[in-house]
Amino acid sequence: MTVTFNVTVTLFFINTMNKYVISSSILSADFTRLGEQIAEAEAAGVDWLHVDVMDGHFVPNITMGPFIVEWCRKATKLPLDVHLMIENPERYIPAFAKAGASGLTVHVETCPEMRDTLNQIKALGCTAGIVLNPETPVEKLDPFLAEADLVLVMSVHPGYSGQKFVPESIARVAEVRKKLDTLGSFAWLEVDGGISIETLPRMKEAGATAFVAATAIFKNPEGIAAGIESLRDVIAST
Ligand code: DX5
Ligand code: ZN
Repeated sequence: MTVTFNVTVTLFFINTMNKYVISSSILSADFTRLGEQIAEAEAAGVDWLHVDVMDGHFVPNITMGPFIVEWCRKATKLPLDVHLMIENPERYIPAFAKAGASGLTVHVETCPEMRDTLNQIKALGCTAGIVLNPETPVEKLDPFLAEADLVLVMSVHPGYSGQKFVPESIARVAEVRKKLDTLGSFAWLEVDGGISIETLPRMKEAGATAFVAATAIFKNPEGIAAGIESLRDVIAST
């Protein structure tokens, strides 16, 4: 394991001293200038970089693999928050860890042996996250909640950026918040999909602590820095 990799993982945890974090999803970035766009987000003070991995099986779209994660790792010191929307994630986890992922989040719908998968992720030095699709009952998390470093509640059906926020996810976040508090867990409670200056305060009120945004940052008409700043402002003022 290289020194760079360990430093990155440490940063992921250092960030836990901030109560709320913004994770910018490069799914809406301009890939002809990906390095510049990542640098702009980093300079604007974003906390994490979110990488959406899709396989065309678990979700209809195909996006990025370990190769892109490796280039992101070279482009930034930001923690890489990697969201695996793929079947059989355990086959690919070592490659993503080697590529420099700081955290790996796997879907409860794709992991029949979730405990083993979380242990596999942790053994490779990454933060282990569990994610739920909007239609998956929150109870599916129960057996593994105490072992998760991060729980992600999807607020759109995964596959694409720019989709409409699913309002029912607010109550689901509140439910997960209650479960984490009952356990005394310090896991991040992350939300992903349709997060904007309008929806973020409702998710924050429900108990979310990490906010993923693609469109609101990389497609903000005022630019990437303005997008991050406006999300940061609503976090501070709500
Ligand atoms: C959706 C992805 C999201 C997506 C969010 O499947 O997991 O991370 O990039 O995009 P916005 O913020 O545009 O809804
Ligand atoms: Zn995502």
